[in-house]
Amino acid sequence: MVIFLIFFKVKDRPIGIFDSGVGGLTVAHAVKQLLPGESLVYFGDTAHLPYGDKSAESIRSYSRRITEFLLEQNSKVVLVACNSASSSAFDTLKKEFENRVILIDVIDPVVDYLGTRKFNKIGVIGTKRTISSGTYKTKIAEKSPGTEVISMATPLLVPMIEEGFIFDDISNAILRAYLSDKSLTGIQALILGCTHYPIIKNQISRIFNFGIEVIDSARQVSQILKNTLEKNDLLNDTDHVNDRFFVSDYTPYFEKIARMFFEREINLKKADIWV
Ligand code: DGL
Repeated sequence: MVIFLIFFKVKDRPIGIFDSGVGGLTVAHAVKQLLPGESLVYFGDTAHLPYGDKSAESIRSYSRRITEFLLEQNSKVVLVACNSASSSAFDTLKKEFENRVILIDVIDPVVDYLGTRKFNKIGVIGTKRTISSGTYKTKIAEKSPGTEVISMATPLLVPMIEEGFIFDDISNAILRAYLSDKSLTGIQALILGCTHYPIIKNQISRIFNFGIEVIDSARQVSQILKNTLEKNDLLNDTDHVNDRFFVSDYTPYFEKIARMFFEREINLKKADIWV
């Protein structure tokens, strides 16, 4: 009986998810769709947004503290729902936390998915941090050696999305300026290498006349999460879910986007984890 209770409590623990801001909500939303019985604890590091302009060292230190915070919230998994952190901090997090919690990033699941497709030429867009790390290029070269990868930093997109410029003339002009670059001619797929970008996925697809596959990590990541929970016998299917959202700096936009994604009021708190 005691063993059963301990076992139950482990399954009952939440999935910890973090990003610099609203981007990781695209992953959180997909997780919720696939695993409605799981509780989420989300941390948006809005005080340090954007991560894409920061040094790898700073991102590692933010990611480390946020992981500790998510462990303090009793998370059974920590999902790094940020490409900038996945490319710069994931190896460090694995070294330091893997013996305490299951860690999942947003890059490997997409690279694995690409391995099942046979593309000749693809594009990857992301923050300056993600693109300059070369993580996508290196990992895709290992798993899909014949695929040519064109990487492009698109640093205006995160501030644009965080400021609410979506599906309008401004966002369209910025997207066209980036995506009409000649180097992208002939791509068969475009990886959205930033978890903010799925918010404007449709607008991006439209620029390519819906003629290429636009790949975001949310679906692949939530499927990997489900498989991992099943494998470790940690899948929760209760209907007593309790999703909690934390930010390091309060912004009304975060609440608005979160409400839009989850179609309900959300439990949002400011957490001063840097003091
Ligand atoms: N959404 C994040 C990513 O996937 C971070 C963007 C940023 O803060 O610059 O890279």
